Amino acid sequence: MDMFQIEGAKPLNGSVRVSGSKNTSLPLLMAALLAESPSVLEDVPDLRDIREMVRLMSHLGATVVREGTRLIIDPAGFNVDYVPYDIMRKMRASFYAMGPMLARLGHARVSLPGGCAIGDRPVDLHLRGFKGLGAQLGRSSGYVHARSVGRLKGSRFSLMGSNGTSVGATCNVMMAATLAEGVTIIDDAAREPEITELGNMLNAMGARVEGMGTSTLRIEGVERLHGCNWKVSFDRIEAATWAIAGLATHGDVTLENVGFKDMASTLRALEQWGAELTWVNESTLRVRRGKGMKRALSVVTEPFPGFPTDAQPQLTVLLALTPGESSIRDTIYPERFMQVPELNRLGARIKSPEKGRIEIHGVPVLEGAAVMASDLRAGAALVVAALAAHGTSQVRRIYHIERGYERIEEKIMGLGGSIVRLPETDADPGLDSVLFGEETTPLASETMVPTRAVS
Ligand code: EPZ
Repeated sequence: MDMFQIEGAKPLNGSVRVSGSKNTSLPLLMAALLAESPSVLEDVPDLRDIREMVRLMSHLGATVVREGTRLIIDPAGFNVDYVPYDIMRKMRASFYAMGPMLARLGHARVSLPGGCAIGDRPVDLHLRGFKGLGAQLGRSSGYVHARSVGRLKGSRFSLMGSNGTSVGATCNVMMAATLAEGVTIIDDAAREPEITELGNMLNAMGARVEGMGTSTLRIEGVERLHGCNWKVSFDRIEAATWAIAGLATHGDVTLENVGFKDMASTLRALEQWGAELTWVNESTLRVRRGKGMKRALSVVTEPFPGFPTDAQPQLTVLLALTPGESSIRDTIYPERFMQVPELNRLGARIKSPEKGRIEIHGVPVLEGAAVMASDLRAGAALVVAALAAHGTSQVRRIYHIERGYERIEEKIMGLGGSIVRLPETDADPGLDSVLFGEETTPLASETMVPTRAVS
């Protein structure tokens, strides 16, 4: 296993091209299986999660070929109706296979995903939607079985759950409904840009989807879909990560291949904090610290168009370095604060007075240390923190980060950051200063420090 060793406190300066979106590419790849002819997707990032999705599609019988940033998908051989646990446990988005399987093959057996580091992640809303389309559902031995007698049937149902609506369920059910008989109306649909893009691509394949970007989707089923050429839009969470990394390191970062609409809530929060944002043109944004005081913030994550949960761990780093008292409530994943104990190892002062909320007491500096990524965005937050911290940090378990950040070292080095990939060792940069008796910083008693065992 590899780790990143980062020499921090170097401002990130320069331009970085944001890759195509991971969370958009995943459902778009699956959508290509609904067609009867090949599709070509452009600007698909080369990431661990995308490679897992390609592996799943090959398992299902499709042929997927990568040519640079383009993936060519031929669905002609798609005839396998099950997704085993071994594939599901590596990536929850594998559940996206269920919609196309039901719509094209009429049956599906899919391993139920378990929870993960960011909390409980059920699939009841996906199943509610398939049931709404007339599928018969059952479960046994950790698998959900679904069958449709003839074509799926359009109907009207809501995808509202106890934590709000669901991006994944909206995508999955929308895919299935494109080939259903009659009209489907999905109430309380998610409004994320990933869904708008999926709807637009499905329409380019011959589907009839209306209402994208609103909470009511209307899908008039068609008998068949054809392949299309589609360019995936930028990764709004990667963009947020670079913007925050630039600000946290007192740098000056220009994001290329971005757009205002998909990032509006993130940019609003950064402006409130005190960032100076300059649109160089409609797809290029310069991000710097503005003059004057930086403000502590109270941020609540919400479904789009609210502040995204996927940028919450990274924002925690910026607020940890901002004078005053900030707070973050995550309404989507109340347990998604795995970055906190590790940031406290770097000298942050963050506590969680109740489930779903953290309080951040800003500190002037973070200090390098060895830390461990527990999931993708917590891992990204640790990289941002290590880039801002004084001294050397090691970020371990970087395979989590590789799920969602393409060529991350190259991009950091391109911005003037210092990062190297090394095999994980027991050598710990913190140990030298402890052994040689360097000055220590008093520890705030209420700070959360890691207590979980290493598994
Ligand atoms: C997508 O996950 C993203 N993943 C996540 O990004 C993101 O955090 C999440 O949406 C929220 O924006 C992909 O797009 C591949 P949800 P998804 O279904 O679709 C509850 C990242 O870092 N829920 O919108 O799985 C659920 O527990 C990742 O890139 C149900 O109750 O999320 C959560 O509280 C991680 N029942 C809320 O809804 C269900 O059937 C939103 O989840 C489904 C979800």
